[in-house]
Amino acid sequence: MEDTKTKLERRPTYVEIDLRNLEHNFSGVRKSIGEAKIISIVKADAYGHGLLAISERLEKIGTDYLGVGFLEEGVALRDRGIKCPILVLGGVAGYQINYFLEYDLELTASSQYIISEIDRRAGRMHKKAKVHLKIDTGMNRIGVNYQRAEHFFEFSAGLANIDVAGIYSHLAVAENDLEFTKLQFDRLADLKTKSELIFKRKLPFHLLNSAGIMNFEDGKLDAVRPGLMLYGMSYDEKSREAAGLKPLLSLKSEIVFIKQVRSGEGISYGLTHRVEEDTTIVTIPIGYGDGYPHRLSNCGNVLIGGKRYPVVGRVCMDQIMVDVGKDKVRIGQDVVLIGAQDEETISVEEICRLTDALPYEITIGLTQRVPRLYLN
Ligand SMILES: Cc1ncc(COP(=O)(O)O)c(C=O)c1O
Repeated sequence: MEDTKTKLERRPTYVEIDLRNLEHNFSGVRKSIGEAKIISIVKADAYGHGLLAISERLEKIGTDYLGVGFLEEGVALRDRGIKCPILVLGGVAGYQINYFLEYDLELTASSQYIISEIDRRAGRMHKKAKVHLKIDTGMNRIGVNYQRAEHFFEFSAGLANIDVAGIYSHLAVAENDLEFTKLQFDRLADLKTKSELIFKRKLPFHLLNSAGIMNFEDGKLDAVRPGLMLYGMSYDEKSREAAGLKPLLSLKSEIVFIKQVRSGEGISYGLTHRVEEDTTIVTIPIGYGDGYPHRLSNCGNVLIGGKRYPVVGRVCMDQIMVDVGKDKVRIGQDVVLIGAQDEETISVEEICRLTDALPYEITIGLTQRVPRLYLN
């Protein structure tokens, strides 16, 4: 760890990502899904973990597919030499269709209108477009309603320049409502036979996200789409631990300033925190400009020397203040804001509880000015 840290001349605040834990989580998913394939979700810069580094490792360890949100993310992967199939999950803007075909990216079609547009443009390029049909089974985001899916299949099967590569839907409440999840599962699974009759072959069906993989026992279909669990996170600590997931990401910094503050003095913007007795306050060079949530003002914690200390006063754009009481600390001493230090840990899920945020928001929110260092 010291090696990566000292190798670069950089600011003291950085994100450390342990790719060995990615391998651990990926093989956990593999073991839990039988024969199903894995579409590893790497959108939004691999949930803040770095699109390219994460995708390269996932390709190396045998992911069947990568899933991204938008065209640009798929293009970045192809430019970097990623060869495995890539599904773009988001909606498609008509004028971008040519690029999907040029870069061999699989599209999501969520309406008859868009699949005709894909067909028309693919025809002009003398290519066949690989398309996954998106069915809405109850989330009401994008997709053709499951009750009209049969008609959508018939329409799609008649298009000369379309190669249907999959049929999928997305779960709305897999972390807390298994009954509705089962309803969504059945609505999609019930379309299998119809699709085989219409397309005259078996097409891969996929539905489960991380919460679905962890909680839903009744079937996995032909492929699963984990994101969160690959990064070793979950919607709460209990489910993360039950699934044996290991977080990849730590957020680290160091003490850059130490001062003694007298009882009654206020700290940071608004002087919202008053120290109750003479104490030592240290400053850490991280703030909401790095994605450290402002909502951790007066309620976050950091680890120094394996011990928890409170964030006092408001989080600034570039700095936070921490009360270390009477403990001895020194300039340059390591500080952990997310991750483990000795026996103590601050998890992303803990930060979510304090800030009423989603785990996705916390890691995706870590801005580009925080360097990412990779281990293993
Ligand atoms: C269509 C789709 N599939 C799969 C995922 C992965 O979800 P999770 O990260 O909860 O596993 C997402 C994430 O938002 C998604 O939008």
